[in-house]
Amino acid sequence: MLVKNLNNLPRDILRLFSQIGKIAQENNCRVFVVGGVIRDLYLGRENFDFDIIVEGDGIALAKILADKFKAKLVDHEQFCTAALFMPNGIKIDIATARKETYEHPGALPKVTPGSIEDDLLRRDFSINAMAASLNPEDFGELIDFSDGLNDLKKKVIRVLHDLSFIDDPTRILRAIRFEQRLKFRIEDHSLKLIKEALKHHAFETIKPPRIWRELILILYEKSPKKYFMRIAGVCDLRFIHPKLRLNRDTLRLFDAIDKLLVSYEKLYPHNEPVENWFLYFMALTDALKRSEIKYLAERFNLKKDQRDRLYSFKNLNRNFFNFLGKNNLQPSQVYVMLEHLSYETILILRAKSENKIIKKRIDDFLNIYDKVKLSINGDYLAELGVSLDSGFKKILDKIFYKKLDGELQTKEEEIEYARKLIDNQ
Ligand code: CTP
Repeated sequence: MLVKNLNNLPRDILRLFSQIGKIAQENNCRVFVVGGVIRDLYLGRENFDFDIIVEGDGIALAKILADKFKAKLVDHEQFCTAALFMPNGIKIDIATARKETYEHPGALPKVTPGSIEDDLLRRDFSINAMAASLNPEDFGELIDFSDGLNDLKKKVIRVLHDLSFIDDPTRILRAIRFEQRLKFRIEDHSLKLIKEALKHHAFETIKPPRIWRELILILYEKSPKKYFMRIAGVCDLRFIHPKLRLNRDTLRLFDAIDKLLVSYEKLYPHNEPVENWFLYFMALTDALKRSEIKYLAERFNLKKDQRDRLYSFKNLNRNFFNFLGKNNLQPSQVYVMLEHLSYETILILRAKSENKIIKKRIDDFLNIYDKVKLSINGDYLAELGVSLDSGFKKILDKIFYKKLDGELQTKEEEIEYARKLIDNQ
């Protein structure tokens, strides 16, 4: 049976697949497109993550293909994998078909070359374990050893063997991610296996950064609230942090972020894109104390800029909110309060706040104040005789605040005010 919708792939991809099949044939290999792309072809979902599996020497074939297509090759010989970057921007991952064995629960697998069947049967779920052949004799033929197509039709997530979650506990989070994304259901026996793996403290057998990678993938999904609700129901959230819970405020914050992001471009048309996933992460951890966030940041080895953003949000106390919500603040006062915060922090403040004044202030900051520019700069001050030591920045800030507050309109007025400040020094 041919893979459904294969012809829906863009023409250049199909042509490329057929050429790869021919070259593989000439080199006595069998090649297959595998995994998510096949699943998503059946579901009519767009997916351009092309994974190709080679029965034979994958790296050698990748080198031949790179030569033929003038593609850039990045290979990881020790893992028998390579990535081809085609001149037209398409990226293809190529790997030798392999067999995997796990020496102990949670260990990274030991890998040996194998057949396409070995390669598909080592995978996480039946719906991810399908392939399409690319060789000319059976181009497009579906390879499905584990009844993945049937599970796609039944809309279930099913593991291929009983030790799957013990071997690789990240699959617990993957199962929930696919379940929620595709609106499928984790099949009963697989769910029982998840519960058993959790009884054996599965998440404690893997290094926290592996959990973190999976959490990020979930945070990247559209509207991740329901994913975390499901994780909380199946696993509890304590494996992320002992104090982490989904309370009503957290759930409300997830919804508010969804809403804000839908209208982000309309609300703030000229602003930089923000990292959506990070906003949701801030929401998830909002109820944790500073020390608990710190523990989390260390456990997952968060990058410095991620820690900075989390801490700066956590540092905002009640006084900050009270002040930002006061009547009669000057634009420059609002600016000084918000200017040092990341866009993600500002947006989560906006999502969190139910106070209309605060919302309006944040909108004005993002749409107006943050865009205001002075007509003069440090060079101009130097021409006026200001030396570096006397603090360009302090003077420029003062001029800027006055401009924000609407007291300076023209370049001449800025210059005049600059002169006044210099004379008073
Ligand atoms: N895989 C696995 N076990 C894991 C991770 C991945 O068996 N812990 C397999 C699955 O067969 C998956 C393939 O490796 O289809 C590629 O992994 P990934 O790119 O993460 O999966 P996709 O199915 O492409 O997921 P997505 O749609 O989120 O990109």
